[in-house]
Amino acid sequence: MTKCIGVLYFSPTNTTKKICMAVALGMGEKNPQILNMTLPDFRAKIIANPNTITAKIDHLVIGSPVHSGKLPLQVLECLKFIKGNEIKTTAIVVYGNRGYGISLHSMVEQLFKNEFNVVTAGTFIGQHSYPDIVPIALGRPDKSDIKKAQEFGIQSLNVTKKLSIQDIPIQIDSFSKSEKYDVIKPTYNKELCIQCGVCAKSCPMGILLPTGKYLNKEAEKQCIGCMACVRVCPKNARIAKVNLAIKVIMKIILGRALKKRKEPFVIISEK
Ligand SMILES: Cc1cc2nc3c(=O)[nH]c(=O)nc-3n(C[C@H](O)[C@H](O)[C@H](O)COP(=O)(O)O)c2cc1C
Repeated sequence: MTKCIGVLYFSPTNTTKKICMAVALGMGEKNPQILNMTLPDFRAKIIANPNTITAKIDHLVIGSPVHSGKLPLQVLECLKFIKGNEIKTTAIVVYGNRGYGISLHSMVEQLFKNEFNVVTAGTFIGQHSYPDIVPIALGRPDKSDIKKAQEFGIQSLNVTKKLSIQDIPIQIDSFSKSEKYDVIKPTYNKELCIQCGVCAKSCPMGILLPTGKYLNKEAEKQCIGCMACVRVCPKNARIAKVNLAIKVIMKIILGRALKKRKEPFVIISEK
């Protein structure tokens, strides 16, 4: 019987999406059922249909980026609602070569609470969201990452035994310990903006006007600094820019991540 593979992801700059799709491809599915929770409309749809959203799926691949050593709150909120009904699940986080903190652990913990049968889990690496400030993991996931993701898909397909929460690694550091999210908000250049509205359409928080500006001051406070708008802007009117002092601090914090290439890590329960 052909299995229905689903992919549920949050991916403002698309690296998480690439990894999840490669895992699904490894499972033999070029066109999985896509549940893209990046945009607010779709997250609202999930929350409104918590029981049916995954109804036809036999194996669900769930992916999220790591923000400040944690899962973005938008992902956690969404996962809290979806009912797992013991569906086979592969849990994935994608991080920018610094560290994944408690993100994978909290994802799997939440999935267990909602009765997902998590059989495999993994951490993968994607280009850091601020390449113009600190160029970390540029071009990742690369060919080698994609190959590993596909192999992980093949391995995940035939596993049936549920993982235990003790199998999931945690990296405790100052970011994952803190409830705070360290955010760099993109700057906006009115002169360069052609008001195409692409940034507003791709904003995971729905807080931009088609003119490229925030809806209002309150909206600006809600910006999660995910860089979705920077990625899609055709004119570089929205860019990640910081002053020299912040740049130096960031280079210090992310210095180690610049030096050593990290590799994907996967956890597979015994068959
Ligand atoms: C606000 C924010 C915080 C981040 N925090 C971390 C972190 O703690 N550790 C890390 O290695 N990468 C961190 N990153 C980098 C992302 O996890 C990485 O670029 C990921 O590939 C982005 O996924 P996406 O392309 O699906 O959006 C952070 C990125 C952003 C925007």
